[in-house]
Amino acid sequence: MAAASSAPPLALLIILFHLALTSSAAAAARAHDDDDLLGAARAPGVTEWLRGVRRRIHRRPELAFQEHRTSELVRAELEAIGVSYAWPVARTGVVATIGSGGAPVVALRADMDALPLQELVDWEYKSQENGKMHACGHDAHTAMLLGAAKLLQSRKDDLKGTVKLVFQPAEEGNGGAYYVLEEGALHDASAIFGLHVDPALPVGVVAGRPGPFAATSGRFLATITGKGGHAAGPHDAIDPIVAASAAVLALQQIVSREIDPLQGAVVSITFLKGGEAYNVIPESTTFGGTLRSMTNEGLAYLMKRIREIVEGQAAVHRCSGSVDFMEETMRPYPAVVNDEGMYALAKTAAGRLLGEKNVRLAPQLMGAEDFGFYAQRMAGAFFVIGVGNETTMKQVRTTHSPYFVIDEDVLPVGAAFHAAVAIDYLNEHVSVSATA
Ligand SMILES: *[C@@H]1O[C@H](CO)[C@@H](O)[C@H](O)[C@H]1NC(C)=O
Repeated sequence: MAAASSAPPLALLIILFHLALTSSAAAAARAHDDDDLLGAARAPGVTEWLRGVRRRIHRRPELAFQEHRTSELVRAELEAIGVSYAWPVARTGVVATIGSGGAPVVALRADMDALPLQELVDWEYKSQENGKMHACGHDAHTAMLLGAAKLLQSRKDDLKGTVKLVFQPAEEGNGGAYYVLEEGALHDASAIFGLHVDPALPVGVVAGRPGPFAATSGRFLATITGKGGHAAGPHDAIDPIVAASAAVLALQQIVSREIDPLQGAVVSITFLKGGEAYNVIPESTTFGGTLRSMTNEGLAYLMKRIREIVEGQAAVHRCSGSVDFMEETMRPYPAVVNDEGMYALAKTAAGRLLGEKNVRLAPQLMGAEDFGFYAQRMAGAFFVIGVGNETTMKQVRTTHSPYFVIDEDVLPVGAAFHAAVAIDYLNEHVSVSATA
């Protein structure tokens, strides 16, 4: 230990000099790779293929854990590119592997499920499935990741480790990411990157932020039980409607009175049910909604207080109250917290690919993403990627809108960004024993 404080021995200096040389050589090689990546992704045949893949998926949307046809399409495309994969992962998921097969292992993730929503955009590839639509861009996410598979596969002999490409089911509410991890499909991965389309940003722009990015979100269902009876004799009944009303109002004060105003939190009650007749006091009422926070501790606090308030308000009104957070069936999503190092790595890669001015700092989002499960388990970075176009789109249609559209020029950009991030990660984390 003492030797470390004196001048470095000559051998160490030589090693450092050697490292400096090899890392500048790696940087030069990387810059060269990037030119090829975006160029290769934008080559006419590749761009047409990406559009075709996205449109085929768009036309036949499938809901959470039912992505059988989409999964089959992904597997067929991977086979055509010559990439091997594991399947089924979390029922319909596919995890492809490219590279040495050894460490380091970096993961790239796309989600495959659609929403229960009727598409109202009239175009050639409009959804053929009644009441189902790719209104959150997962069709584009899947196509971009297949694009990355193609780019990485053609550079597979130069990869300094392994890239796992995760085609994940059930992002919209069912936490497919949780099951992918549960099955151990990413046990050897040390980092993960994900992309989400953003119609508020123009094509060619990406954005992210270090630290907390997207909220943690849960749901609750409250039941308040009293004693039903004739509405003309309220004293002979115990009215759960009044108790539920008091509870709904009391719940508004968690965020306004108990949470630091500079911290994001939401409690929204979105339904309230009870009773059928004008002259009957019902036996019970139910209500529920969503709770969100920018931190996992914040969500735990909201859960604790929602339970206390519902039970307490029920008791005040001589009723009994209970709250179900459905943690097994509707698993709460953890916050997406971007690892500072991975964020910086992806930001640098994006800057080189797209130009510094096209890489922006994103605001925090109250929306939730099951990418949070991965980012909790390993170093992760999640970015949004522009799909807007002022020239061709009169107004911005948000995700989950029946009018949602994207500029498909995003597809090669996302494919190249995914591939660049994976290549950079492997170059920067290649183990010493592997280089020797
Ligand atoms: C928008 O669409 C037009 C017309 O198709 C195209 O020329 C342009 O490159 C697109 N992208 C942006 C960012 O405007």
